[in-house]
Amino acid sequence: MAIYNPFIPHENRCEREKVVHFHELVKDMKVLVATDKPFAKAAVDGIRKIVEGAGYELALLEKYTEEAQLLAAVADANALIIRSDKVTPAVVDAAKKLKIVVRAGAGYDNVDLPSATAKGIVVMNTPGQNSNAVAELAIGMMIFMARNKFQPGTGSEIQGKTLGIHAYGNVGRLVALKGKSLGMSVYAYDPFVTDKAVYERDGVVAVDSVEELYAKSQYLSLNIPATEQTKKSIGQKLLMSMPKGATVVNTARKEVMDEDGLLAALLEREDLKYATDIAAGNQAELDEKAGARVFATSKKMGAETGEANINAGLAAANQIVDFFKTGNTRFQVNK
Ligand code: 3PG
Repeated sequence: MAIYNPFIPHENRCEREKVVHFHELVKDMKVLVATDKPFAKAAVDGIRKIVEGAGYELALLEKYTEEAQLLAAVADANALIIRSDKVTPAVVDAAKKLKIVVRAGAGYDNVDLPSATAKGIVVMNTPGQNSNAVAELAIGMMIFMARNKFQPGTGSEIQGKTLGIHAYGNVGRLVALKGKSLGMSVYAYDPFVTDKAVYERDGVVAVDSVEELYAKSQYLSLNIPATEQTKKSIGQKLLMSMPKGATVVNTARKEVMDEDGLLAALLEREDLKYATDIAAGNQAELDEKAGARVFATSKKMGAETGEANINAGLAAANQIVDFFKTGNTRFQVNK
């Protein structure tokens, strides 16, 4: 893919000099932080320090309720930092000066890559920066469900149970390690991580198919991104194959679930449980029909820790400064 290079070529300069030259030419560089779900104050302070330290201006748009507010705010921004905020074709169109969008987090399914790419806008994420927070929430939800949502009555322990990790990326691996330290037997499946040594070094057993993973897992941690291939990929058949009393924990995206299949499985199997950090489209029906066996956080909170906000927010700011000053595109996702 050809990305528009903001660093205007100048035959007689070395690459680095060209970049610095461009940086010096651009006055009034504006970095917009647009977060419907704001970062912790310490993270915003850290972002400001990095951005202003580089000589740029920081603009903040927090807790906005209408896309129109984002369209207005982004109009003169050269760089944009977001969380799960949607960068639609309309946002790209309104962003006349935008060169870079950094999604402070892992999943970038909220950014319309084709329109950003068509306008030569570099899109990056900050992989790994909020993974520990998400992994801790996944373990927390397992215990919460095992203990009947902390309601009176006899629950169970997660020690000694099987844990399946669906996708062995940054979050999946951390859930696996935490599960192991809690005495769980951990299995994993990831079609993109085929080297068994990666799993072996963590004491995790790699299985050969998604079917085998679900059939083995008393707890299943979903860590797959939402892509055209994964959307609605977890359905009734996989869920029905899980062991008695199994719990699926979704800290990934609601789109990966076939929600009709999920409802059907929960109705047919009165022992199955589902806990999610992203309410399903049919969450009200799930709550009504499966009651105590389902749980959804009120707003996605996997990455809602001060530590994760600081890690991801500061990484985003540093990546923007580095991009403008040195042309570094290491974390670009639309290459
Ligand atoms: C991610 O993809 O990094 C997580 O889903 C966190 O999303 P958030 O920044 O909107 O909390």
